[in-house]
Amino acid sequence: MGKLGGKVAIITGGARGMGAAHVRRFVEEGAKVVITDILVEEGQALANEFGDNATFIKHDVTKAADWETVVAEAEKAFGPVNILVNNAGISMNKGLLDITEEDYRRIVDINQVSVFLGMKTVVPSMQKAEGGSIVNISSINGLVGGAIGYTDTKFAVRGMSKAAALQLAPTGIRVNSVHPGVIETPMISQGDSKDAIQEFAKFIPNRRIAKPEEVTNVVLFLASDESSYCVGAEFVVDGGITAQ
Ligand SMILES: NC(=O)c1ccc[n+]([C@@H]2O[C@H](COP(=O)([O-])OP(=O)(O)OC[C@H]3O[C@@H](n4cnc5c(N)ncnc54)[C@H](O)[C@@H]3O)[C@@H](O)[C@H]2O)c1
Repeated sequence: MGKLGGKVAIITGGARGMGAAHVRRFVEEGAKVVITDILVEEGQALANEFGDNATFIKHDVTKAADWETVVAEAEKAFGPVNILVNNAGISMNKGLLDITEEDYRRIVDINQVSVFLGMKTVVPSMQKAEGGSIVNISSINGLVGGAIGYTDTKFAVRGMSKAAALQLAPTGIRVNSVHPGVIETPMISQGDSKDAIQEFAKFIPNRRIAKPEEVTNVVLFLASDESSYCVGAEFVVDGGITAQ
């Protein structure tokens, strides 16, 4: 049996990028995976690769009603939920004087309110399973400053992970945050040119950006029982950027 044998997992933003890497590995490790995203074609195509071991649900993480549906459908398909990876997110590279109030509320909704809604909605299901693991994807910008808006939301994810972890730890539900550095996904390739990424890589102690699977290894550890004593902690995967 794999590291996640018998577990039911929800992975948001699972249609592409890091989320898709987590989905692939989770299925390999024996989990039944509910892939959620607003990208219907990509999400459905990914789920089709895994037959009965995965299902796709269209899900806007900013909507409480969508969350209710996702958890209910996950339970119906596979049983009570053991693992939630709050991975969906967007980036935004605008300065303080350029970002609009609308932009700001949008990124807070997608990157921050979504994580609150996800934790709140999934916990009753995890209580039925008598335990669980919530892995919240923050960023190195949840530890050190970066773009306005994005940084704010990622610090919030780090904070709410600790608050929820303290409350839920006695019930056997663990919450931790993951802080990736620069990872090769559509989020990065759509925002920056290859040359800009190579230039930035010179300032990373590892001298390269990471593959999504290098983050998956840490997410898998936190989702599995191997991390049974990790509670409200921060897991940095950044090639040394924040160690400088
Ligand atoms: N790529 C990086 O360098 C990096 C670094 C640090 C943290 N992160 C974080 O990792 C997570 C995954 O990022 P990625 O790089 O794989 O990006 P990505 O853009 O490739 O994937 C993000 C996914 O989230 C989905 N999504 C966006 N808005 C949504 C919504 N409202 N409802 C449901 N799904 C939605 C997108 O459709 C997409 O499939 C994000 O939270 C991101 O902030 C990324």
